[in-house]
Amino acid sequence: MVRVEFFAGPAMVPHLAALSRLRIAVFREWPYLYDGSADNESSHLAAFAQAPGAGLAVAFEGEAVVGCSSCLPMAQEGDYIAAPFRARGWDVGRFFYFGESVLLPAYRGQGVGVEFFRQREAHARAVSACDFAAFCAVQRPSEHPLRPGGAVPLDDFWRKRGFVPYQDLFCTMRWKQVDTDDKVENRLAFWLKSLTGAALP
Ligand SMILES: CC(C)(COP(=O)(O)OP(=O)(O)OC[C@H]1O[C@@H](n2cnc3c(N)ncnc32)[C@H](O)[C@@H]1OP(=O)(O)O)[C@@H](O)C(=O)NCCC(=O)NCCS
Repeated sequence: MVRVEFFAGPAMVPHLAALSRLRIAVFREWPYLYDGSADNESSHLAAFAQAPGAGLAVAFEGEAVVGCSSCLPMAQEGDYIAAPFRARGWDVGRFFYFGESVLLPAYRGQGVGVEFFRQREAHARAVSACDFAAFCAVQRPSEHPLRPGGAVPLDDFWRKRGFVPYQDLFCTMRWKQVDTDDKVENRLAFWLKSLTGAALP
């Protein structure tokens, strides 16, 4: 039986090593293909832990962490996330950014992902007046050679959570992939949801 608990501020710190471990394990798979290591995760996680308003949903089986899902006010994120919003003249202060959701495959399909969204939205409403939640997802061609045959995109899952895709609103991030020798640029498109009833931009 998996349970999901929410942590904010210093209470997140004991779970950051698990977050890093899960990011490296889960994002190694399609569609992220991320060839990460704990060393290159540490500065990102240290900044996350210090950010005012940040929160982390953690899925446990017993004492073992089997999934994590992060969020923070977009104004606390790096410019690599906020730049496309600023470029459109949008007030970054109106957006709460939902970071990764990573859940070990054995624990999927039991409602944990739905609970990750529910808890992050509740946190965003509790600690901010942000009008919108935003997350981004990597874009890959459907004919990519590493795409597994039965891969099901999460688009319908995200639509059911109330998010709307913005294909032309995207950021780029560089990471070393399992199929590359060096870091390569990846494009991630945003999805937005109103938290307050305000019309989407
Ligand atoms: C994204 C992720 C966390 C979703 O996790 P999940 O726990 O499998 O998702 P859920 O079980 O909450 O929901 C998935 C679907 O299964 C359904 N479901 C819920 N309980 C279920 C059950 N007992 N049996 C079968 N399906 C169930 C949900 O209703 C949902 O379907 P819906 O959208 O039609 O309502 C997980 O797929 C993952 O870690 N993916 C890899 C990393 C990734 O791509 N992350 C996203 C970008 S950061």
